[in-house]
Amino acid sequence: MLIETERLTMRPFTPGDLPELLRMRADEEVVRYLGGVAKQTPEFTEQRLRFHFDCYEKYGYGMFAVVRKSDGEFIGWGGLQPLEESGETEVGYGFDKPYWGQGYATEVAAAWLRYGFETVGHARIVAVAVPENAGSRHVLEKLGMSYEKNAEHYGIDCVFYAIRREEFAPREGFYAVHDSSGARQSG
Ligand SMILES: CC(C)(COP(=O)(O)OP(=O)(O)OC[C@H]1O[C@@H](n2cnc3c(N)ncnc32)[C@H](O)[C@@H]1OP(=O)(O)O)[C@@H](O)C(=O)NCCC(=O)NCCS
Repeated sequence: MLIETERLTMRPFTPGDLPELLRMRADEEVVRYLGGVAKQTPEFTEQRLRFHFDCYEKYGYGMFAVVRKSDGEFIGWGGLQPLEESGETEVGYGFDKPYWGQGYATEVAAAWLRYGFETVGHARIVAVAVPENAGSRHVLEKLGMSYEKNAEHYGIDCVFYAIRREEFAPREGFYAVHDSSGARQSG
């Protein structure tokens, strides 16, 4: 399954993405609000990749690689996954530093919310962020997500946001889901 937006394609990670992912996650600024660089050992990132693969098996989606259509660059990650053992589904995203500030997080998160509500049929999707991550909080708020509480997730004190299906307004712009044969499922 692939999700395509105006400027981006989101595809499942492969084991071959590990070196590039490790490179991105070695940048202090990229992981400042993701537990810091010390946490980003190769073992940790490999274990996260395995978790993403498990999600693909279990749900048919998960955290995907984000690729820019104009030049094929792998610029970051985004997707839906279970929020630890909470029983909730979270939307998450992150980008290599050169790609910040161009609306990509908003484009990615909006597409995954749409996929989660329209295709999967989730009733509610949540997100967590470190309170100081003002850029990410702004993205969540732009998408119509509401702050609910502070809560600890991934061993970090987080702000917790949520949105219900009926509150979600799909953004204008190109959006398509392709199945594994490449056929478009919805547009
Ligand atoms: C946070 C992050 C995902 C934002 O990605 P992005 O592609 O730059 O986000 P967008 O361009 O779609 O939107 C960011 C918005 O926040 C605003 N913003 C950015 N930094 C901000 C800050 N420090 N304070 C307030 N607003 C900020 C931008 O102006 C923009 O708003 P606008 O569209 O109204 O102008 C990106 O910085 C990143 O990858 N960080 C590292 C990984 C990470 O923290 N992931 C999120 C974990 S919860």
